[in-house]
Amino acid sequence: MTKIGIIGGSGIYNLLDLALINELPIETPYGKPSSHYSILQSDTNQFVFLNRHGKDHDIAPHKINYRANIWGFKEIGIKKIISLCAVGGINKSYVPGDIVFPNQIIDVTSDRHKTFYDDSPLYHIDFSNPFCPQLRDYFIKAASEINQFVYKSGTYICTNGPRLETSAEIKYYSLIGADMVGMTGMPEAVLARELELCYASCAIITNFAAGIKQQPLTVNEVITTMKQSEAKLNILLKQILISINENNPCTCNNVLKDASIN
Ligand code: HPA
Repeated sequence: MTKIGIIGGSGIYNLLDLALINELPIETPYGKPSSHYSILQSDTNQFVFLNRHGKDHDIAPHKINYRANIWGFKEIGIKKIISLCAVGGINKSYVPGDIVFPNQIIDVTSDRHKTFYDDSPLYHIDFSNPFCPQLRDYFIKAASEINQFVYKSGTYICTNGPRLETSAEIKYYSLIGADMVGMTGMPEAVLARELELCYASCAIITNFAAGIKQQPLTVNEVITTMKQSEAKLNILLKQILISINENNPCTCNNVLKDASIN
């Protein structure tokens, strides 16, 4: 069974030439995940796919059951999760269509369940590097092998949504070091780490964040850029799947060892 999971939006079925092998309906102690988990086969790899916004894209970012989604992957036996996400570009170098592999996170979300460890035993996991460095290295290697330009690092700020940001908020986020803004990276990343899973994001800049350009933001822009980026994302994702060594152990798989007070 594959150890690779992908979390993405609805565009993914168009991304790869995929055969659906099976669908796994998973129940978790935290409730229902966003949808069934699909076992998909590309011409080189098998992996498990979950659409974070649900099959019909009707689960808002603040309503996603992040704990159930990540728990489900663990239950299936997944070890490494590739997250595909759309983000607004804050860094002035970014233009829509660019690909970034973020290496840092700032979390400004609220009222989301952000831990599996509410009760004893308590764990305070190391989250200095929120994205798995080993998985990010596979991403970087894959991009370089196909000569795909990517930004190899950047800081992702996670907002609550579902509204987009104000121009003043984006200015502030820029001042505190954010390069891109999205609504789903947290608590997805920390929950994966808490269950000792590797997790890294491949972010697509779908729009200039609010106020970066003097034009109103539209969701149409986000969808159009996503569509226009499909071909290169397809090639990159295929190469990432080839580059990953599923059986290579990683320090993410051992974070609880030094994280308990009890
Ligand atoms: N803000 C927040 N989330 C997003 C954006 C944005 O501009 N674009 C895509 N996801």
